[in-house]
Amino acid sequence: MAKVDVLLGLQWGDEGKGKIVDVLAPKYDVVARFQGGPNAGHTLEFDGKKHVLHQIPSGIFREKTKNIIGNGVVLDPIVLKREIEGVAAKFNINLRENLYISKKAQLIIPTHRLLDQAYETAKGINKIGSTLKGIGPTYQDKIGRQGLRVGDILADNFKEKFKKLSDIHFAILKEHTIDYNWSELETSFFEAIDFIKQFKLIDSEYAINNELNAGSSILAEGAQGSLLDIDFGSYPFVTSSNTVTAGACTGLGVAPSRIGEVYGIFKAYSTRVGSGPFPTELLDEEGERMRKEGNEFGSTTGRPRRCGWIDLPSLKYSIMINGVTQLLMMKADVLSIFPTIKICTHYKLKDGTISDTIPYELVNEEITPIYTEMKGWSCNVKGILKEDMPKELNEYINFLEKELKVPITLVSTGPDRTQTIHR
Ligand code: GDP
Ligand code: IMO
Ligand code: MG
Repeated sequence: MAKVDVLLGLQWGDEGKGKIVDVLAPKYDVVARFQGGPNAGHTLEFDGKKHVLHQIPSGIFREKTKNIIGNGVVLDPIVLKREIEGVAAKFNINLRENLYISKKAQLIIPTHRLLDQAYETAKGINKIGSTLKGIGPTYQDKIGRQGLRVGDILADNFKEKFKKLSDIHFAILKEHTIDYNWSELETSFFEAIDFIKQFKLIDSEYAINNELNAGSSILAEGAQGSLLDIDFGSYPFVTSSNTVTAGACTGLGVAPSRIGEVYGIFKAYSTRVGSGPFPTELLDEEGERMRKEGNEFGSTTGRPRRCGWIDLPSLKYSIMINGVTQLLMMKADVLSIFPTIKICTHYKLKDGTISDTIPYELVNEEITPIYTEMKGWSCNVKGILKEDMPKELNEYINFLEKELKVPITLVSTGPDRTQTIHR
């Protein structure tokens, strides 16, 4: 029975999902995004060029791969139009042929973005650090059963439906001070709506299950990371969707029994962008060096990413929730600059308890990471071959495998497609 393999981030996003989906895509007939929206920024590098995708699945540069935006996604037509035009200008890719959009995906309308901004401003110092792409307000309307979906754009009364929802938003926005030019926003929204009508708007759950029944291979591409999951992340400092494996079931219409491999992707260290707890964060010069060496600046917002050592309690948690079957370790090359590498194996809580589980009060609890140290590899490993892996890097990997109890089957040593070691 054909299965859906899932690839998702085990940390706070930006693990390198885009690169690996692109690397794995030739093995798959279909790549499908199942949640999130333009808050994602997935970077791919090949032939000396870099591409950042926000809404289009990362299989788009592989000629034979179908790319589906699933029902669990929130879609901003303006961002999608810009992205499609950008890809089409650089490559001879027929997006009308190999991009499919679920009619059940929720639409981000301009007022969702304004609300995101208004809510964040109102939170003051407690702000989430949202990408302000309208993600939270759009999922709110989905759950509140008043959202608009991609399929609605084909209805004669779409403009009416749009007006009804934006009027609801205007009533809320009245209580906030936010500057905007509505006629510009509305015009670009409807231009984008007309634009996306030329693409394949489909019943994606049928399409995906038909593909499975025909024996096709499918890769589900996660966005964000498990520690940003709405249920299991560091609430309220999370995104508004289920970023975990279960999200692939609801976000694509795939039964749990049809999930195959679960690829859990993580950086050899940790990063986080936006607010919220980060037990191993380095607020010193070491963190600064990590950020510089790893070029840790947001792919969507350009914000500096917070950096720190690897955190095994949180990785164990993500592995448990997702049922990870294979681990993929990214950015091994970045740690080359450190003679000694630290690994957080446990947390010490305020009352002295030592544990390798995540406390409920993660957000308010004072946590001291307990580290073990290993000798670094201190040499350039960018793009090296498997047989040239330094002993210390192999020891680091072996230690992590032993702790995490899942094999590390891939090691990435640079941003390019080719800088990838399959173990
Ligand atoms: P995603 O959101 O999970 O797809 O990750 P991002 O694209 O937001 O961030 C990952 C960043 O690391 C991008 O700039 C990638 O080009 C880069 N990258 C991916 N793998 C590696 C690696 O092994 N080494 C280095 N140095 N950079 C990498
Ligand atoms: P990819 O797919 C890293 C973070 C934001 C903020 C919180 C909520 O590239 O890994 P939202 O815009 O969803 O309201 O933001 O989640 N965040 C991400 N961090 N990578 C992402 O996506 C992210 N998408 C959202 O910084 O802290
Ligand atoms: Mg990213």
